[in-house]
Amino acid sequence: MSQRTKEILAKLTLDEKIYHLEQVTTATFVPSLKKPNVVTGPDSALKLDENLVFEVGTSLNLIGAETMIEAHDYYLKNSKNKIPPVFMQDVIHGHRTLYPINLAVAASFNRELAKELAGMAAKEASLDGVSVTFAPMVDLVRDPRWGRVMESSGEDPYLNGEMAKATVQGYQGDMGKYNIAACVKHFAAYGAAEAGRDYNTVDVSERTLREYYLPAYKSAVDAGVKMVMTAFNIVDGVPCVGNKHLVKDILRDEWGFDGVVISDYSAVEEQIVHGAAEDRKEAAYLAMEATLDIEMMSSCYAKHLKELMAEGKITEEQIDKAVLRILDLKEELGALDNSYRTVNPEEAKKIQLSKEHRALARKGAEESAVLLKNDGILPLSKDVGSVALIGPNANTGAIHGSWQCGGKIDETVTVYEGLRNILGDKVKYAPGCYIEYNSEDTSLIDEACSLAENCDCVVLCLGEHQDYSGEGNCRANIDLPEVQYKLLDRILEVNKNVAVVLFTGRPLAIERLDKTAPAILNMWMPGTEGGNASANLLFGNVVPSGKITMTFPRVLGQCPIYYNHYTTGRPKLPEDDYNRVRFTSSYLDIPNSPLYPFGYGLSYTSFEYSDLTLSGETMKAGDKLIASAKIKNTGKYKAKEAVQLYIRDVKGSCVRPVKELKGFEKIELDVGEERTVSFEINEEMLKYWNKELKFVAEKGEFEVFIGKDSNCQAFAKFNLI
Ligand code: GLC
Repeated sequence: MSQRTKEILAKLTLDEKIYHLEQVTTATFVPSLKKPNVVTGPDSALKLDENLVFEVGTSLNLIGAETMIEAHDYYLKNSKNKIPPVFMQDVIHGHRTLYPINLAVAASFNRELAKELAGMAAKEASLDGVSVTFAPMVDLVRDPRWGRVMESSGEDPYLNGEMAKATVQGYQGDMGKYNIAACVKHFAAYGAAEAGRDYNTVDVSERTLREYYLPAYKSAVDAGVKMVMTAFNIVDGVPCVGNKHLVKDILRDEWGFDGVVISDYSAVEEQIVHGAAEDRKEAAYLAMEATLDIEMMSSCYAKHLKELMAEGKITEEQIDKAVLRILDLKEELGALDNSYRTVNPEEAKKIQLSKEHRALARKGAEESAVLLKNDGILPLSKDVGSVALIGPNANTGAIHGSWQCGGKIDETVTVYEGLRNILGDKVKYAPGCYIEYNSEDTSLIDEACSLAENCDCVVLCLGEHQDYSGEGNCRANIDLPEVQYKLLDRILEVNKNVAVVLFTGRPLAIERLDKTAPAILNMWMPGTEGGNASANLLFGNVVPSGKITMTFPRVLGQCPIYYNHYTTGRPKLPEDDYNRVRFTSSYLDIPNSPLYPFGYGLSYTSFEYSDLTLSGETMKAGDKLIASAKIKNTGKYKAKEAVQLYIRDVKGSCVRPVKELKGFEKIELDVGEERTVSFEINEEMLKYWNKELKFVAEKGEFEVFIGKDSNCQAFAKFNLI
């Protein structure tokens, strides 16, 4: 805290301090939106005082520089203390120029790209007056039924941490003009919601929490993230927002985080619904005891902190600390020097959706796409006579993902437009079927088939609607709809040259598609330039290099399924995958192996791994070993490859995963080019939370793997002595 912020604090009354801890929608301060104010408007349920509301410290979710200026001016005009407000926004994967969903960006295995994309989003958002983004979301996920897997980086703690660091650095930079503060979320373990149902019960041991779910948040804190958002769910039976062990003991005392902690939307009050708080007063007490600073969109603090203080349950010092964290953030954002900070409508119009930003968004979509199958039909030849473009996702801009922020569907390049940018009138379009997951309407299939019959090849755009994933958008069936399979089967009867382009916010259980489609290019939800990126990949202007960071199951019944699992005492051996071995950890009816494993993704070229070496057979604490491999491009296209390092701790005081990602490097090789990739192995990488809940590396044998995906085999062993 600074002298300046302490002086500001000293001038506030208790009521004003308390109101500074509240967060309402920014629309509250924009009369022109015709949304009545906080007393009668969307936040009327909060029943905040119509004068003190102009002392709330922050607000959320409004798009547009001009309206942000209006909110800023109206707020300061009516505020007594005139402390500049800070505007926050869900800038999750782009602000106006949208890039792919985070599960796609993670699949790029490209830290620099993730950082660059976040930097672009920060610039566009800062020009619209946004100062804080509620991102990165780093919740580890293992269940594709959960709608919010699209915002995550997947199932691996290390990769999630690397993407968290890169994204925080991208948003925050040097906290300069075009930077915004990042807010890592949702603390903690929101991705472990049982049955993949949003907001559902989370029940993980402290050891699992620390081993798998906490590391990525810690990476964001170590990268200097300015804020942390608590999650809706319980951890160990206590809602995160009032979980003193999680927030005060671990986040603040153990990790040393002294920044702003904000609740998720109305989560403070939802402690009552959880059955963890008797009423709003107890909800306020629990949150304040857990050291929550900002209450988003509920008003327990405003209504009860004064009373709790009068009863001696909380102290003014606790309130002061929370206010000072918010004031210190405002000072660091430069808001106390220039309350308009970075908003600039003219510059925003020039920068947002600029050629450069579109090019970067396109690059993001190209590098995140994953080639799941290719029997040789891809890449398509530009000399093709005609292309039948078919499918419910072929001619729509609704390929953003569910966090559209300022993105607009009509500013998005559709696959139809993207293909026509390369082939012009050679592209013929038919919808084929509707996107609704429950549509049984086959009336469009005949038209699509006759088009397919009369074209050289077919690009078939299938998958999900962008609103079938994201918050509150969970699915109990994650295969393609029957009508999409009917369309595919009918088309294959008249034309074998079919490339399926998949649009999805999650891994899908598409074993049936994998069996019938000649090629599958997964574009995820690619954003504003999705159509151009798809076309560039389909025609080989760009070679696919993405690799999935969340396992694709064969069928839903395998979920949760993830690569970094334990062996169990009765593992089914990989060589028996398709055999029935009854008394093993296996199924009667299907193999254990997933459809596509973590780290998997094909290319148009081929890569040969050779000369895998390890620099030694033993390692003492403090030593390091070097693992390296030669990778050669043995195919016909210059291409990128994400080389992965895995390590297995063969025995521990607690059981250890069959392998864990501990490094990755994305390289680009010309045809015929060979390069050595080396990874340093040190003791820190071998540490884990052991039986005594100590974070240590235990002596013993370790196996080392280098390969193109998590199916790679160990090539060496060493002993930590
Ligand atoms: C939502 C989400 C959270 C988001 C917040 C503000 O409910 O859970 O991720 O940042 O509310 O929109």
